[in-house]
Amino acid sequence: MVRHFLKDDDITPAEQAAIIRRAIELKKSPYSARPYEGPKTVALIFDKTSTRTRVSFAVGVADLGGVPLIIDSQSSQMGGKESVADTARVLDRQVAAIVWRTYAHHGLEEMAANSKVPVVNSLSDDYHPCQLLADLMTIQEHKGQLAGLKISYIGDAANNMANSYLIACAMAGMHVSMASPAEYLPSAAIVKRAESIAAETGGSIEVHGDPVAAIAGADVVVTDTWISMGQEAEKAKRVADFAGFTIDSALMARAKADAIFMHCLPAYRGYEVSAEVIDGPQSVIWDEAENRLHAQKALLAWLAEQR
Ligand code: CP
Ligand code: NVA
Repeated sequence: MVRHFLKDDDITPAEQAAIIRRAIELKKSPYSARPYEGPKTVALIFDKTSTRTRVSFAVGVADLGGVPLIIDSQSSQMGGKESVADTARVLDRQVAAIVWRTYAHHGLEEMAANSKVPVVNSLSDDYHPCQLLADLMTIQEHKGQLAGLKISYIGDAANNMANSYLIACAMAGMHVSMASPAEYLPSAAIVKRAESIAAETGGSIEVHGDPVAAIAGADVVVTDTWISMGQEAEKAKRVADFAGFTIDSALMARAKADAIFMHCLPAYRGYEVSAEVIDGPQSVIWDEAENRLHAQKALLAWLAEQR
């Protein structure tokens, strides 16, 4: 059966751990997996802008022996002109996998339902699961473990990154503590799903309105932009609403002394994080950005084996 990766819990906790282990191996030995030898082609479709995702998937597919085909949806027939289902039926006869960055998550579900090759979510309005594989890999590298660590997310707790942190970190047995203004809390449904996963893995979920309460004793501190792609018209309101939620040195000092700081990037210094924190000694953002490559290679190699 073909497997897809549309959200963090489309894989089991054991599969997540195996993919992260493999990513660490591939980082040491970049050309040791060649599932796309031939070469086979992988479609990389972008409805939204991207730097890291575009580069890391293109390089990763090449490292795996294949050819990346980058498709900007605005210059294709997708969208208004041709349905997602018809696009899937055209692509799956010619490519080995479909990687898609889009807006509404249900588009990915429609693509997967009609595709005979793996479909990977490279960011939707609801989830960014490839980023979480890279983030967990980065934490594993810097802290030597995942289960039992406390990760604090301060910022927009209703966005795609927050949803993925809740689910993926619960799967890894981590203690997830979030803080956001009341209007930007995660949905009750996603918190419930994360809590039920955490009950199985030994992790836990806490949601706060106060960043100081959320960050206390954290091993890992993370944030994301207050204005996600598609929300640009709300910028003035969001900047006002998130006042007091910037991760600056004073807030960071309330985490553990050896805490690391991460951010999926792109970052907006002075809004969700101060320059001194993101460019300071606790920040591991460049490892995190590089690890997109290794984690996605491990994911694609694993997906290629599940058929
Ligand atoms: N973190 C991330 O997905 O970056 P891009 O938007 O540049 O791909
Ligand atoms: N939440 C951000 C993540 C960017 C990688 C967005 O969706 O724009």
